[in-house]
Amino acid sequence: MKNIVVLVSGGGTNLQALIDAQGRGELKNGKITCVISSNPNAYALERAKNNGIDTEVIRSKDFAEFNDYDTALTELLQSKNADVVVLAGFMTILGKKVIGAFENRIINIHPALIPSFCGEGYYGLKVHEEALKKGVKVTGATAHFVNEVCDGGPIIIQKAVEVKTGDTPEILQKRVMEQAEWKILPKAVSLFCEDKIKVIGNKTEISE
Ligand code: GAR
Repeated sequence: MKNIVVLVSGGGTNLQALIDAQGRGELKNGKITCVISSNPNAYALERAKNNGIDTEVIRSKDFAEFNDYDTALTELLQSKNADVVVLAGFMTILGKKVIGAFENRIINIHPALIPSFCGEGYYGLKVHEEALKKGVKVTGATAHFVNEVCDGGPIIIQKAVEVKTGDTPEILQKRVMEQAEWKILPKAVSLFCEDKIKVIGNKTEISE
């Protein structure tokens, strides 16, 4: 059984999707053992506590240097015996140390079809604002491994979602979450825990 540690910053609906999937027995060979937040007021922490999951808070601004934060986060994850780290709406950029220590073991959910609307500055609602500004007819979500390139690691699963006339960023965000993020994130985590994802260069091969 692999230990799943989830990093959050906000509302935590993706964390909830993971908790619900676990309840249905859909996180095969994995268990959510800890939720770590960058924000002490994140509602995601309540979701964890309501489900009896251990919680921690770590804020980059409490450290004099970013390097010290990077080291502390790495050590915290190691102390929790994390086998896989899931970024579920985690809004702090990860440092080199943590990325190196958990190579191909950190999974992020991004609310667009990478390589569109991704990279630095593309997070949360901003992603959907940009998609609407461009006028794309299809958007979606991507679950991918994290490497040192922001939103540039190997893609695990993608799911497309239709953009509709009259969409606002908020309406589109909700549709992308419901139709894509909450489905593909638990699926990607489960595939990882079952050792069904092979990373070859910057691509993955899934065996089902
Ligand atoms: C989600 O839409 C997630 O994909 C996005 O933030 C939201 C968090 O919602 N993440 C990013 O934009 C990362 N670049 P949640 O806290 O309800 O899961």
